[in-house]
Amino acid sequence: MSKEPRKSAWGAPFGPVIYQSTISDELHKLMLDEALDLQKKKENDYRQNLAGNIEEEYAYSDAVRDRCTEEILYLCSDYSEKIGAQGALIQPWTKSIPENELVLPQLWVNFQKAGEWNPPHCHSGLFSFVTYLQVPPEIGQEKDQEHQKNSFPSAGLLQFDYGEHIPFTNVTHQMLPKEKMIVFFPARLRHYVYPFKSEVTRISVSGNVFSNKTNWQNY
Ligand SMILES: [Fe+2]
Repeated sequence: MSKEPRKSAWGAPFGPVIYQSTISDELHKLMLDEALDLQKKKENDYRQNLAGNIEEEYAYSDAVRDRCTEEILYLCSDYSEKIGAQGALIQPWTKSIPENELVLPQLWVNFQKAGEWNPPHCHSGLFSFVTYLQVPPEIGQEKDQEHQKNSFPSAGLLQFDYGEHIPFTNVTHQMLPKEKMIVFFPARLRHYVYPFKSEVTRISVSGNVFSNKTNWQNY
């Protein structure tokens, strides 16, 4: 028997592709300034459209959303390229979805406070994303507190679930949000957000990306 090194291949060709990047300082400032303004004026309450058990969720105005669109769709198109590279873009002749075939009709901000959460849910559209404008360090530090000294410390985590619970297979993926982080995922992928106990506010922005080519809407 030989233990000599040899060529091998490996991969995880099943399941959804999750994409993580960062937003620019410019987009961060724009979204945060406008978010604080919406909160101050209590304008465009968006809770009726959302699953979150969160007291303050506001939709951005069309004008602000337009200003955010270019960078977000640029990143989303890159995300679609990564999905294409994995071979999971459904239409085999397509390697990615160009920016000019993507639209961003829905963009909103969440002010998550102690004890608030987002139950398991899915979004509309092709792709969805969440980005974080303000992440107090206290949330990440909760894992060292007594109530988190268990086998699954989860305060404040974002979690995605997918697939059958069989050995040697990831069926869940957790992420600890960080400031300026942006995460894209297939809109219909089930996800949720755990509460935290710290008396702080985490500000996140979410949106749904659709296609202006109707033939994509069935996928
Ligand atoms: Fe969501």
